[in-house]
Amino acid sequence: MAAPVVDAEYLRQVDRARRHLRALISNKGCAPIMLRLAWHDAGTYDVNTKTGGANGSIRYEEEYTHGSNAGLKIAIDILEPIKAKNPKITYADLYQLAGVVAVEVTGGPTVEFVPGRRDSSVCPREGRLPDAKKGAPHLRDIFYRMGLSDKDIVALSGGHTLGRAHPERSGFEGAWTKEPLKFDNSYFLELLSEESEGLLKLPTDKALLSDPEFRRYVELYAKDEDAFFKDYAESHKKLSELGFTPR
Ligand code: HEM
Repeated sequence: MAAPVVDAEYLRQVDRARRHLRALISNKGCAPIMLRLAWHDAGTYDVNTKTGGANGSIRYEEEYTHGSNAGLKIAIDILEPIKAKNPKITYADLYQLAGVVAVEVTGGPTVEFVPGRRDSSVCPREGRLPDAKKGAPHLRDIFYRMGLSDKDIVALSGGHTLGRAHPERSGFEGAWTKEPLKFDNSYFLELLSEESEGLLKLPTDKALLSDPEFRRYVELYAKDEDAFFKDYAESHKKLSELGFTPR
């Protein structure tokens, strides 16, 4: 599909959608699933074939029924009235804006949002998102395919400071932190703590401890929340722009 024309009216709708999203996400307490939606739309990117990415294709049944996307139809439906009121905004932009606002309203860093992503109706094949049962080599395979780095992998894993796993969606259960609606560096503190009883640690979370290159960043982010916020904001912006070249 053609790139949207980001004119004054488009920007006005982005502003209005941002205000609606702030209210909606705070009132419904749905920041975690909005962040997960944004990440799963973008995270299918393949830097070699330039396919997938932040292109709104997750709105199609073919893609949201992928096993890794279980539950995300809820987030897609919650955003539909905002799309209806702001029809110029592409789905690709709307989903990434929702992710950025989710981080902002829960106390996280401001992630710069540049509009203009085009929508695609081509869904990637299943299997491009990470498998939580695997280890560090798998994380690298998946994130390097997106064109992202070790630092991006650890910083973005900090997104698990929000939300929880649901047995009926992923087979895992529980939250990573004691306050799953607050964006802070507690994911890294709990990961390093021996006493995080009752909290979730996926095999891919644990891989960040056992791999020395990843662990460097885990230790830094646990002791320095400002460093985490700075790196997170940069990595999230990169993620949100996979497959999109701002003009
Ligand atoms: C939830 C895996 C990276 C944000 C989940 C769940 C799994 C998972 C299994 C539970 C889903 C459910 O049962 O509802 C992974 C793996 C990753 C990864 C293997 C590889 C590093 C990320 C990234 C972000 C993110 C990069 C965002 C920056 C979230 C959020 C939730 C979540 C916010 C909570 C959703 C909710 O509460 O409904 N992830 N994830 N994840 N993930 Fe990840």
